[in-house]
Amino acid sequence: MRTPEEIDRLVEELLSRMTLEEKIGQMVQSAGLDTAAIGGDLDAAPLEEEIANGRVGTAIYIQADAKLARRLQSIAVEKSRLGIPLIFCQDVIHGFQTVFPIPLGWSCSFDPELVRRAVEISAKEATRAGVMLAFSPMLDIARDPRWGRVSEGAGEDPCLDARLARAQVMGYQGGEDGAGLGDGEHVACCLKHFVGYGAAEGGRDYNTVEISPSTLHNVYLPPFKAGVDAGAAMVMPSFNLVDGVSSAASPYVLQTLLRQELGFDGVIVSDYAAVVETIAHGLAQDGREAALRCANAGLDIEMATDLFNRELPRLVMEGKVPEAIIDGAVRRILALKYRLGIMDDPYLYMHEGEEKAVYLAPEHLETARCLARESCVLLKNDGALPLKEGAKIALVGPCADSKDQLGPWQFSAFKERTVTLRQGLEERGYAVSCEPATTIFEPLEGGVARAVALARDCDAIVLAVGEDMTMSGEAASRQNIVIPEAQMALAEAMRATGKPLVTVVTCGRPLLLDWFERHSNALLCGWFPGTEAGHALADLLSGDHNPSGRLSISFPRHAGQIPVYYNHMPTGRPWNGISDEKFVSRYLDGPNDPLYPFGYGLSYSSFKLAEVSLSSGRMTREDTLAVTAKVRNTSSVPGATVLQLYVHDVAARVSRPVKELKDFVRVDLDAHQERTVTLHIAPEDLRFHDGRDWVLVSGRFEVFVWFSSADCDLEKLEFTLE
Ligand code: BGC
Repeated sequence: MRTPEEIDRLVEELLSRMTLEEKIGQMVQSAGLDTAAIGGDLDAAPLEEEIANGRVGTAIYIQADAKLARRLQSIAVEKSRLGIPLIFCQDVIHGFQTVFPIPLGWSCSFDPELVRRAVEISAKEATRAGVMLAFSPMLDIARDPRWGRVSEGAGEDPCLDARLARAQVMGYQGGEDGAGLGDGEHVACCLKHFVGYGAAEGGRDYNTVEISPSTLHNVYLPPFKAGVDAGAAMVMPSFNLVDGVSSAASPYVLQTLLRQELGFDGVIVSDYAAVVETIAHGLAQDGREAALRCANAGLDIEMATDLFNRELPRLVMEGKVPEAIIDGAVRRILALKYRLGIMDDPYLYMHEGEEKAVYLAPEHLETARCLARESCVLLKNDGALPLKEGAKIALVGPCADSKDQLGPWQFSAFKERTVTLRQGLEERGYAVSCEPATTIFEPLEGGVARAVALARDCDAIVLAVGEDMTMSGEAASRQNIVIPEAQMALAEAMRATGKPLVTVVTCGRPLLLDWFERHSNALLCGWFPGTEAGHALADLLSGDHNPSGRLSISFPRHAGQIPVYYNHMPTGRPWNGISDEKFVSRYLDGPNDPLYPFGYGLSYSSFKLAEVSLSSGRMTREDTLAVTAKVRNTSSVPGATVLQLYVHDVAARVSRPVKELKDFVRVDLDAHQERTVTLHIAPEDLRFHDGRDWVLVSGRFEVFVWFSSADCDLEKLEFTLE
């Protein structure tokens, strides 16, 4: 492995031999390998010619075909003047060939170590096929379930998102500061989308956002800070405007926030076509101005379009873009190529013929099954679960025997290996009779009647409803986040049979589940569980494993409540949720609180918390306080829970949220076992941005330790920061 000093020297030496055009070529990313021209731009030369001419530095690569990657790499290495290899990048989001639950799902595990393992497996599989860089993790905080991309992130909380950001960077890059880069088994990773993309107004993708400086710093930045601190190699600015300028063209976003405040010194790549989109945003009159603004703002790589190649040479010659800016970008890109090991062996990541031994390897499937189990959240259970051994099950609904369990952002070639819920239940010895009755949107002829007939003759109904994979992810915002009508008609018919009704929901976002809360005997949110879907779901439904997932995002009761999230600001007229006062902050026609809050999830065990105490009632600016508590499993079923520590700053110069998660831990407990658990609060956790600066303000803080963000029935603790 080369030292940073050696890399710097090699980069300078190479840079000194490059023409301006060759430098700019490194700053261009092709939109794919099958497109004849960059970004489908018919005026550009065919891609292979562009590579040979040194006009492409990196490439988006969806195909997962090591042979193709090798062919294109050989053009870069053998035909271009300086022989600089390409970096092949892919949206590896939640698995490569083995598919893990969607990130919103795996965030409900509250298990960063298991997520790290899953991501490391994704990297290992991806590197077999030529992939060297993952456009992942997606760190956008999302408070609006209408936005389809909630599925790709960790939900609504900055603390959880930051922990998972670190875990993913460590998994992809093989440790802190890219320790595993260059070993051929890890990939560079890219934090996205910087910043505020999740705040899209109305939940409509690509829409504008309005974020105050304090919210930007306190809510949206922390996960990126964690990812930068862990050493992520790349960052992708977001599509949206921040204070009137799209991130790719914003010196404030790229320089002030990313480079100066977060201290990021890696490569900045635009999002897809974001340079050209500055024209539609009303920030540039034409391609020349678009390239000028983005390059001068500090964008290193233009993704998918060709304006840098076309416009930058002249802009540099005219002195409009300083050559030092180009040199800075190219230094960072070349340094990454050295760190990835491809300057020494351009074919390090291409393993034609060896992929099969790695894809879907038994330990990969085992991790996928385990993470899927931990991701599912049991939302209701009146005793209908676990299903009795050998029970006769009427399994109905469009998701009952469906392989559409992988979710958005999946390019796995092994979709047919997805285990369906039906397979999972049958393998566990249940007598399953299955009837889809409807597609996701349309009733099947006679389907409901067939389902009713099966239901009449069963011990329990398992109703498998939800969304298909196209309904969440990018450009998949929904106004009505409901289970589609045809499926609701089936649900009503199942309820009318009077048989125990267990609902399993496949989804990429929180849906409105009020009907199911009222009428289902049990309700399990499965998200999109991935390749091992049916196994993981059956593990939980059978009681062989105990549900332990906790929501990383609130589920509204009604779309009119959106955004509804736990860490909201106080109001001057809070409502206690019970009184019929009028001039308080409430709706006339429904409650304020969500149906299921952040941190919530049930188990087949019951847990009790006792003797919660603080190591001190005072904290200095150097201290860390310890919060200890005894957690007891009061049932005869082994299980896991997530203990959560929330803090409230009672009075500060600017108002602080009613509650903020600061630490959490998963606790595994045998039947009737008790354990003492310790959580921590550091002064750093109490720091906040007041709109102008980061501050740490003396005063009183309340502490809540509980199994969810909902009000707990224990007395709250307090300490004073001196
Ligand atoms: C998405 C990014 C993604 C990129 C490349 C864009 O449309 O916003 O998240 O990484 O495409 O596929």
